Parts: sequence; C-alpha cells; structure tokens
Amino acid sequence: MTKRIVSLPGDGIGVEVTEAALRVAQAAGQKAGLSFEIQEFLVGGEAIDAHGTPMEDEVVSACKSADAVILGAVGGPKWDNNPKELRPEIALLRLRKELGLFTNLRPVKVFDALVGASTLKPEVVQGVDILVVRELTGGIYFGEPKFTEQVNGEERAVDTMSYRTSEIERIAKVAFEAARKRRGKVASVDKANILATSQLWRKTVTRVANDFPDVALEHVLVDNCAMQIVREPKQFDVILTENMFGDILSDEASMLTGSLGMLPSASLGDGVAMYEPVHGSAPQIAGQGIANPLAAISSVALMFRFSFGLEAPAQSIERAVDRLLADGLRSADLALNGEMVLGTQEITQAVLDRLD
Ligand code: IPM
Ligand code: MG
Repeated sequence: MTKRIVSLPGDGIGVEVTEAALRVAQAAGQKAGLSFEIQEFLVGGEAIDAHGTPMEDEVVSACKSADAVILGAVGGPKWDNNPKELRPEIALLRLRKELGLFTNLRPVKVFDALVGASTLKPEVVQGVDILVVRELTGGIYFGEPKFTEQVNGEERAVDTMSYRTSEIERIAKVAFEAARKRRGKVASVDKANILATSQLWRKTVTRVANDFPDVALEHVLVDNCAMQIVREPKQFDVILTENMFGDILSDEASMLTGSLGMLPSASLGDGVAMYEPVHGSAPQIAGQGIANPLAAISSVALMFRFSFGLEAPAQSIERAVDRLLADGLRSADLALNGEMVLGTQEITQAVLDRLD
C-alpha cells in the first residue's frame, strides 16, 4: 500500500529533523508493508524568501488531498521584523485553520533514562506521563477583531479571545475519550475567575463530562496549573486546555522530559492530520547537524497510529527511541556534562538500527 505524505520542512532545524523523520517513516513503513509518496513544499521564512509568501495556495490543496502532513518548524530572526502578513508563522496558523485541525495532542512522557536530564529533581519527574490536549483553531490566536491602530499619537493593539460552545464541546470529547484509554483523569485548565471564554469553557466541559461518568474531571486555573506542573507533575493524566494556555503549558511541561527536543505532536481534525515536533526552528543551531530529531521521529510514530491506524510501526519507533536513550545515546540538548554527544544523523541511525 502507498500513502501520500506532504512534507513541509520549513525553517532552521525543521529541515534537518524532517529529513530524519522521513527516513524513519520509510524504514518503519517498509516493515509494515507501507510505502510513501512524498511531496515537499516550502513554508514559512524559506517560502517568503523564495516565493514572497509564507505559503502558496497550492500547498494547502496538496495537504488536503494527502494522507498525512509532516511539518518541521517555521520562523527565525531573519523574518522577525516582517509585516504581519509576511511572518513565517502565518503558514502554520493557516494550515491549522484550513485543514480544520482543532485537536493538538502533545504527549509529555519522561523516559526513565532521561530523569537526570530534566532541570527538576529525578523523584519529581520520574514516571511522568501527561497528554496535553490543546484546542488549536480557536481562542485568541484567531479571534476577530485583531488589529493595531493609532490613537492619540500612540499605537493601540487588540486581540480577541473567543470561543463557541461547539468548539469547546468537540475538544472536550477528545480529552475525555483519551482519558478513558489512559488513567481516567482530565484536568481542564482555564481562567474562569476572570475570562468570559473560560466561564463558557468550564460550563461546557462540565456538561460534556456527564457523558463520561467513568472519567474524573477537575478544573484547574491556568496559573495554578503552571505551578503544579513543576511542583507535582505526576498528578496529571490528561490536561485539556484552550489554544494559548496550551501553547504555554506544553512548552513548560516539555522541560519535565529534559528537553523541548523530545516532544512530538499530532494535530487532528475531521480530515488529514499534521505531525510536527513541538520545538521551533532553533535558528542558533540550524545547519550544524546537532539538532535532536527525536521529537520529529516520535511524531512519525503518532502518524502511524492516528492516520494509518498502525500500532506496530508506531510502537516499534517508540521502543527504538526508548532503547537508544537507555543505551546512553544523547544529542547535545540532552547530554549532561561529560556525556558523549551525537549529531542528528547519528541519532537517526541509532533509531533505524533499533527498529524491530
Ligand atoms: C507551537 C508554536 C506555534 C504556536 C507558533 C510557531 C505559531 O509555538 O506550535 O506551539 O504558537 O502555536
Ligand atoms: Mg509553542
């Protein structure tokens, strides 16, 4: 069987880690009797430089007719002062919106071999296994109006945070269903003491919970959640939250694992899904061959699981990652003082060598 993948390496280390991820996808796919037809496009800053736009329209249509989309990362200092319609991030937001990817799953799992790599104490992080379920197409990222204006000789900027009941319901269902297959707990994160959107969020999540009597629901204010993630992360199973809170909390939670370079993600909707590492383009280390490809590679495992319904290659990749870490292999972001550091290619080869 052949699956069509659209590959969007993007900027900075996105290019290196996507190449690594595709190598692993092809090897794991082959063992599962799956081959891939890969179509690659520029997005983000590289697309701005080449085509004068963060993403050409044909990219969206190619993604819509693909079986899965793999994305590296977008952005970099080179484009930071661009006018807002020429910012690399536009490509990512447009893809999320136009592909209807309202669910973002960000599993935060601490590998036993890496408990020492986290900045937190080993006893705090050992055994952490959290699934962050982030709403991805609503909230302040997309709310209208959104503008900057001149008022009395100074600038004034406005963003709008907005949610509809139906948007909250569908993401809440995803979280409860995921919790059912895990440890049966959902922590719904909001700022209901202040924000109207959060009050609607809390009311709606509470109502959806009635259909899931077997799942325990608690509501946690976002500031408290940020604190609890570093105080006692093991209390969390599924964290359900809106777009911007999820952006912030998932970066925070990633540090439990030792590095942002370990976190994969899956963005799902009703059609094609997109897989990307949570980390960004890391311009300061781009092109040096030292980026950690494990987040991108683990995202490929999620692709096999969610887009193709194939557990065997998914688990084979996840076990390979687990084993190479247990074998003491480390990329620069994970290495402690004195540990030997491997580059992107070597880590990728180590994964390939360990596929079942
Ligand atoms: C992420 C990133 C993006 C976001 C940026 C690059 C637009 O930080 O996927 O977490 O804010 O969603
Ligand atoms: Mg982010």
